[in-house]
Amino acid sequence: MEFFDVIEKRRSVRNFKPGDVPESDVENILETGRAAPSGANMQDREFIVIRDRDTIAKLNQIQPGFDNGPVVIAVVMSTAATRWGSFWVEDCAACVENMLLAATALGYGSVWIEGTLLKKEQWAKKLLGVPDDRRLYVLLPVGHPAEAGKQAPRRTLDEMVHYEQYGGQNPKS
Ligand SMILES: Cc1cc2nc3c(=O)[nH]c(=O)nc-3n(C[C@H](O)[C@H](O)[C@H](O)COP(=O)(O)O)c2cc1C
Repeated sequence: MEFFDVIEKRRSVRNFKPGDVPESDVENILETGRAAPSGANMQDREFIVIRDRDTIAKLNQIQPGFDNGPVVIAVVMSTAATRWGSFWVEDCAACVENMLLAATALGYGSVWIEGTLLKKEQWAKKLLGVPDDRRLYVLLPVGHPAEAGKQAPRRTLDEMVHYEQYGGQNPKS
């Protein structure tokens, strides 16, 4: 799929129909997480690939709906600061976005589960055996979308872009 089509087609998929995601595709998705930029090149992320049905059913308690997907990628972050500052949240976001786009390019759906995970992070860390000094920050269920799904509403560029100074108009309009 062409790059800009991938950007356009990606949307949060929270429900999956039956169908596997082969290990080679999971590895391709993980590779794009590995390739993402990171502050001071810390690469402070690790991934857990979860296929065990019981574990996925338990994780589904965090946010019901994705337990019919074949695989979940959990993103685990080290939170060490660099001498320029702490970048691990951004590092996490960069690798998550890459993996969401890769899943889309391969014809799968996924969703960035972070808000609901935060509330149950300690519980989920225990379930997945994540060490105390790491954060379990995002879950990415990956599978075949149950339905096409509509694109979520977006603000227009006119509402978001300023020219030369904040509040500046587009010189072409
Ligand atoms: C930081 C962050 C946290 C998110 N947490 C959740 C979440 O916990 N559960 C969920 O279903 N979606 C979550 N999302 C997905 C957003 O709800 C979704 O991206 C947004 O509504 C736009 O829809 P779209 O992804 O289909 O374009 C999260 C997205 C981001 C960037």
